Amino acid sequence: MFNTYDTLEQATHAQQRVTALLACGNNLMPVSWHMPVSKSPFRYAVAVREENYTHQLLEQNGSFMLNFLPFEYYEVVALMGNIHGDKEDKLALSQLEIEKKDRHANPLLSASDFVYECVVCDTYKNGDHTIFITDVKAIHVNEKQSEKPMFFSGRGRYATIAETVCVNKKNLQGV
Ligand SMILES: Cc1cc2nc3c(=O)[nH]c(=O)nc-3n(C[C@H](O)[C@H](O)[C@H](O)COP(=O)(O)O)c2cc1C
Repeated sequence: MFNTYDTLEQATHAQQRVTALLACGNNLMPVSWHMPVSKSPFRYAVAVREENYTHQLLEQNGSFMLNFLPFEYYEVVALMGNIHGDKEDKLALSQLEIEKKDRHANPLLSASDFVYECVVCDTYKNGDHTIFITDVKAIHVNEKQSEKPMFFSGRGRYATIAETVCVNKKNLQGV
């Protein structure tokens, strides 16, 4: 049996989404609404709500680092998602270490599993978020990879994966 709702606010279902910290200058904003949109060239899109300070920063700077942190950082991600960069120095408050910055002064966080260096090439507005489509100029992969990626499913719920399997394509014939 299904319960049916008209709005996302009413439907209390958990759609778990990989979560990252979008670093634009000295501001860090958690994003879970993001996706790859082209393989070659590699292009990546993030959806940012207009009322967030990050929206203004992206319009001004046109670039950011998308830092994919492991699950253990969920508390700092939750904090960054509850305050706004026009009122707080979020990078300082996060106490996250900076490995280096890109040419636009966006920080690569040392704790990240991998980081996409993004330059905005297009925008699309429909509804209450703007989709910023970016050229990924560099993919930085940490030599130390966590086996616990961070997922967010709304309403303060964070999770990680319990099991990973690898399917061999050769064994799929006849399935
Ligand atoms: C885990 C998590 C994921 C979020 N994902 C998004 C998102 O994809 N897009 C968005 O606009 N806001 C998202 N938010 C909300 C913003 O991160 C939040 O409003 C933040 O305080 C905005 O910061 P800023 O005003 O400094 O830009 C998310 C919040 C959390 C906690």
